[in-house]
Amino acid sequence: MKKILIVLIITICLLIISGCLKKDKQITYEDSFIKEVSKLKYYNKKYNKRYISYYHSHTDYSYEDIVIQVNIGLDKPFYTNTTVSKFLNKNYILVNKYTYLPSNYVPNDLILLDRSYSRDNMYLVKEAAISLKKMYTDAIKDGYKIRIMSSYRSYDYQKDLYDKYVKIDGKEEADAYSARPGFSEHQTGLCVDIDDGVINYQLFEKSRSYLWMKKNSYKYGFIERYPKNKENITGYSYESWHYRYVGKEIAKYIHQNNITLDEYVAMFLQK
Ligand code: DAL
Ligand code: ZN
Repeated sequence: MKKILIVLIITICLLIISGCLKKDKQITYEDSFIKEVSKLKYYNKKYNKRYISYYHSHTDYSYEDIVIQVNIGLDKPFYTNTTVSKFLNKNYILVNKYTYLPSNYVPNDLILLDRSYSRDNMYLVKEAAISLKKMYTDAIKDGYKIRIMSSYRSYDYQKDLYDKYVKIDGKEEADAYSARPGFSEHQTGLCVDIDDGVINYQLFEKSRSYLWMKKNSYKYGFIERYPKNKENITGYSYESWHYRYVGKEIAKYIHQNNITLDEYVAMFLQK
């Protein structure tokens, strides 16, 4: 009996020691992970725990992706951990499934778009509207047509739209293509939905004008905001027709580096 007790005690001690060693090993591995990610320009100390836990579930991601995606908030489900958008009235204002606009937010400087290239009652922030007009004129000179189907949308307008889509398709499906009220960047007055005046805007991808936009829109400060293969970052299915004005410099960087606005903000505008 005594022997059994001694064996039992030794076994328990060994188990405890091996547990501690394992923990030590884990701490060392996490420490070296943090040491590496802290060398990155976009690293933010306050997210240390979140970087570690996101890395545990995404070991195939690069350290850079881990840091950028956690900075965006992608380690938490969409529409959780939400905060009000910073940079109100700036060209680089970010609105996505983690950052929203107050219901009473109306951008400064909205102007009515010219009927020659837009539907009735389309408003856009003045700087974006001026650049849009130049883009339209140059597209026409090159033999391509673009037409504005949607631009600034108020909180209430977006609410009606989203509610309508939820009724038709259910919440899960609607969330993949329509923003909840307050979470639509149409409320910034800095984006437009475009067609070519011939095919339905949802098929814009198939038009010649789309190819022109893909090649040239950044020169006028506009980016494709919900690109193909970036759905996991933006939270929206691909929209070939939705363009966002961010200003020429940022648009050029985003275009040349094949990133989204969400990533750009997580890399350069968060600290
Ligand atoms: N379709 C875009 C995501 C919006 O509703 O704002
Ligand atoms: Zn849109």
